[in-house]
Order: sequence, then structure tokens, then C-alpha cells
Amino acid sequence: MKIGILTSGGDCPGLNAVIRGAVLKGIKIYDQEFVGFHDGWRGVVEGEVTELTRHSVRGISKQGGTILGTSRTNPFEGNGGPEVIKANMDRLGIDAIIAIGGEGTLAAAKRLTDVGLKIVGVPKTVDNDLDATDYTFGFDTAVQIATEAIDRLRTTGESHHRCMIAEVMGRHVGWIALHAGMASGAHAILIPEQQVSIEQIAEWVKEAHDRGRAPLVVVAEGFVPAHMETPHSERGLDTFGRPRLGGIADQLAPEIEARTGIETRATILGHIQRGGVPSAFDRVLATRLGMAAVDSVAEERWGTMVSLSGTEIAHVGFEAALGNLKTVPQHRYDEAEVLFG
Ligand code: F6P
Repeated sequence: MKIGILTSGGDCPGLNAVIRGAVLKGIKIYDQEFVGFHDGWRGVVEGEVTELTRHSVRGISKQGGTILGTSRTNPFEGNGGPEVIKANMDRLGIDAIIAIGGEGTLAAAKRLTDVGLKIVGVPKTVDNDLDATDYTFGFDTAVQIATEAIDRLRTTGESHHRCMIAEVMGRHVGWIALHAGMASGAHAILIPEQQVSIEQIAEWVKEAHDRGRAPLVVVAEGFVPAHMETPHSERGLDTFGRPRLGGIADQLAPEIEARTGIETRATILGHIQRGGVPSAFDRVLATRLGMAAVDSVAEERWGTMVSLSGTEIAHVGFEAALGNLKTVPQHRYDEAEVLFG
């Protein structure tokens, strides 16, 4: 059996470990053959592939990014569609696809399996917002990078007696902000799931300052302050037509400074959180998911994705992961809030 692997959507650390895990187990245990589609669904629609051998995946689990490239191409748009994809697979002798991606990728994979294509999925997002899996690989690395950066902001903030605001990724959910904020001892954590007023933020900042601390605020890019309706966006739309986020920290800084009189600086961590080597946790999780994905193919579990349930790898239908985002539950925010101010 010949399997085509694709990585689609925003990249994240651990993608290469999935590819390696799948190829090594697939060749060794099932005698499968592999190719990699270039740039996500674009390579599927245009029939562009590279052969993946034992040799080509050597040593890549510690490598950031994806050796296959990625894109936010929608396989149903442009020259795409199930017929074109089926014809390409037939021409290239590809029997099944392993799609590694987030919600958009898995939604497209579901539509394609519904019309008979043989696809299994591997969940991926640094934001950790996919339902039906306890964690996604890439998240642990992003939290680690953000925490290290915030620790650095803390020392310069302390030297200058300033309030420091660190903006992290998190379009719809605040998992990175919650974990990096808790790890770095933030005095306020602001996430998309919780609307908070500027007055309340200023109060937390002032409380910390009054105790002689350099206040530290961690904000997710998708945070919506109480006086706003939608997340701050000033950078147009991405290729999926979604607003490009980023910049809420810059907006909050003068507001906090005006209300507290404390000099305030903002730093946007941005794509640094998605780059570089994956953590050991992410390499292990990604490798296990890749290996489980070839089991899914061998067992013909079309329309399912591999997932993490506790410490075990499970198989769930695409529909379980779609529709609902895994948001930060109220009790997790309440737990963190005890430490604010
Ligand atoms: O979905 C993951 C994510 O990192 C979001 O947090 C962020 O809004 C988006 O990707 C940024 O994507 P791009 O790489 O297109 O700028």
C-alpha cells in the first residue's frame, strides 16, 4: 500500500516527528510505501509529491517546521475537488492519505472521506484548541518558548520598575497564555474566553506594583477587552479569510499606563512560538501519533484521527474533533485568577 502524507495549515514543532514515526513504522511493520505531498492540500490538488524513504526521514524528529512545506490551501477551491484528487491519487498510485492538520484540514479531510476517499488524520495546532484530544503536539514547545521569553521580559521589567505585557498566540482559546502565564508567575492573564475590563486589568497591575513588583501581563492575541466586540485586528485577512490577529498588547499598554501611571511596554512574541526544535514531550507525542496513524491505515479506519487520551493514543471520528473548540474551562481560569494582582 502506498500512503501520501501532507502537512497543512500553520506549521508547528513536531510535524517532522509525525512524518518520521509514520514512515519508519509503516515500512518496518506493514511494508507500506510513502510519498509526501508538497505544501499541504496544494500538493494533493496539483499532484506534486516527493518519495519518503527511511533515509529521507533520518534525524528529522528534532527539526522544526515541516520538510514537506505547508499552506492554507482549501482542496475544494480553485482547481481542486474530490474528482481531481482521486485522479491524482490514481495516477501516482497512492491508496490512502494521512492528513496532519488543524480544524480546517480535518474538516476538508472529512468532506473527502464522506465521498469515498481513504483518509486518516493527525491533529495539529500550537493553540491546543482541537477537541477530542487532550493535547496537541507543538503546544508544549510553544508554552516553553513563551515562558522563556516572558521570564526575560520580567528581569528587564524589574530593572526599570515597568509593567511588561507579553502577547502570545491563541486565536480562539487561551491555553498558551494560561500555561505560559502561570509558569512565569504573571499578575494578569487575558484570554479570548474571558472578557475583562481595562479597569480590572489596571487594578491587578497596580496591586502588583504597590507590593514592589514589576507587573507582568500575559495576553492571548484573541483576547477581547470588555469594551470591544471582536479581537483586535489591523493586518487584513489570511488566505482562509480570517482576520490576522496581533497587536492587542500594543493597544493595552497605553491604556494601562494612563490608568496606573506605571510606564508600560508591550512585546508581541508572534511566530517565534511556532519555530525551532520541538520539546521532548512534543517529539514523543508526535512520533506516537505518526506511528498510530499507519495503524489506522492498516486497519482501514477511514474518517478517523489519532488522538491523545490521558497517556494513551486513541482513535476518534473526525466529527468528534470538529464543531467544538477545546476552550479553557471556567474552573481553570478561576484557579489561575487566585494568583492575579
Ligand atoms: O492557528 C494557530 C495560529 O498560530 C494562531 O494562533 C494564529 O492566529 C495563526 O496561527 C497565525 O497564522 P499565520 O501563520 O497565518 O500568521
